[in-house]
Amino acid sequence: MALDFLKRIFNPNNVTIALDDIQALILRSRPVPYYGTVAVFEINDATQAKLILKELLPIITSAKDWHKNEGASVTLTFTYKGLEKIGLPKDSLDSFPEAFREGMAKRAPFLNDVGVNDPKYWEKDFKNATIHIAAAVIANSEEHWKTKLQEFRAKFSNNKGLKLLKSHDFGATEEVKNVFGFRDGISNPEIEGSGIDTPPGFDRPLKTGEFVLGYPGEGDITKPYPQPDILGKNGSFLIFRKYQSQVADFNKYIQENSRNPQEGELLAAKMVGRWRSGAPLVLSPDKDDKELGDDPHKNNAFSFKNDEFGKKCPFSSHIRRMNPRDSKTFVLEDERLHRIIRRSVTFGDIVPPDVTKDDGKERGQYFMGISANAMGTLEFLQKQWANDGNSQNLGTEKDPMIGVQDSEGLFTMPADPLVKRYRGLQTFNIVKGGEYCFIPSLSALRWISEL
Ligand code: HEM
Repeated sequence: MALDFLKRIFNPNNVTIALDDIQALILRSRPVPYYGTVAVFEINDATQAKLILKELLPIITSAKDWHKNEGASVTLTFTYKGLEKIGLPKDSLDSFPEAFREGMAKRAPFLNDVGVNDPKYWEKDFKNATIHIAAAVIANSEEHWKTKLQEFRAKFSNNKGLKLLKSHDFGATEEVKNVFGFRDGISNPEIEGSGIDTPPGFDRPLKTGEFVLGYPGEGDITKPYPQPDILGKNGSFLIFRKYQSQVADFNKYIQENSRNPQEGELLAAKMVGRWRSGAPLVLSPDKDDKELGDDPHKNNAFSFKNDEFGKKCPFSSHIRRMNPRDSKTFVLEDERLHRIIRRSVTFGDIVPPDVTKDDGKERGQYFMGISANAMGTLEFLQKQWANDGNSQNLGTEKDPMIGVQDSEGLFTMPADPLVKRYRGLQTFNIVKGGEYCFIPSLSALRWISEL
């Protein structure tokens, strides 16, 4: 989101939550362009790890200046095993939700992580659930990124309490394209109390408790959160999932199922629900519109009200499944309760549409989803909206971007005069691993470091 836009929608009079205690990633979108690194660690020694945590505290970024989105931010999260290893009291450990305690690999049946996405094929640290801490440095320039990364590394380089299991760089240019060449990270819910002034046409901010622990949510009820208060309040949960994108296969599928590049672009856009520029199909159904895609005031100001039959944006497209907005669903559900803040980042290079042979390189996305009920939301989205078509009366059809495709691989595209049905879709984004993480507040991090 353009910086001037963020600054304009910030109103200090609307701040009612402790921004300086909440980690920045929860409220702060990725800068444009962005540069960064994710790193995952195992705790070897709890006492030493707590010393490192004390050292790290001053560089962990709070959400205080989220709207400025300047410089570099450092985020630190714990898995359940990490909290256990660092010595959280049993009562506190028991106060975490069951899905979090089990960890992502064990939750495969609830996530529909089957077939090519089965945890048995995941990278070893994810498969064996050895990750205790996951951290990210995200910056708005190469210089800020390198400086902050160095500062971050210096905090634990002489200490054997933490073992670095893996670190991976990511980034995107001004156009914020993912490896398929589609702009990503446009639509995100806003949080009440964070200082947001939503422009006309935008969805109203959701209640704080949907995303930050310890506050009332949409039903005006504060859901139970990890205890004691200092540990849970102002924290949140993060879903971390590594995807390998099969872009050449996607391009090949598009080519084989269209008569010319123009028709191919339309089919690709119909699968996503937006054109490559980010322009929503609902607002520009026939061709891409770069100006619209670039405009943060307009590129998310739409509803599905005037697209009742999905002829502009198919019911099965990725964005309509993941956020049906005001679409009629065939199973009674409140779509506002399944929202998630996305801070996903892209790694590897973009593959142009004419490349149809895989070069074997690592490329894809770290999906990072945040909410107070992130595990429940992800499990719902994965099982119901991504891998089952029932809520949109589409039988067992799957999400064309993130569904685990079966032998039929169906995609339905309502069109005039007839509905078009495409078959033989593959799983274009394959899960290579993931974890459920807790994002403690800054005071919780301090409390943990003093346990
Ligand atoms: C590699 C995997 C994925 C790719 C390539 C991908 C791609 C995209 C793209 C291009 C958009 C449209 C731009 C935007 O609004 O940001 C989008 C939107 C979205 N995606 Fe994904 N996505 C992936 C994984 C996921 C997963 C795992 C989930 C959740 C389970 C998810 C949930 C969403 C949501 C909620 C939206 C916004 C919908 C809206 O509000 O209009 N995505 N994604």
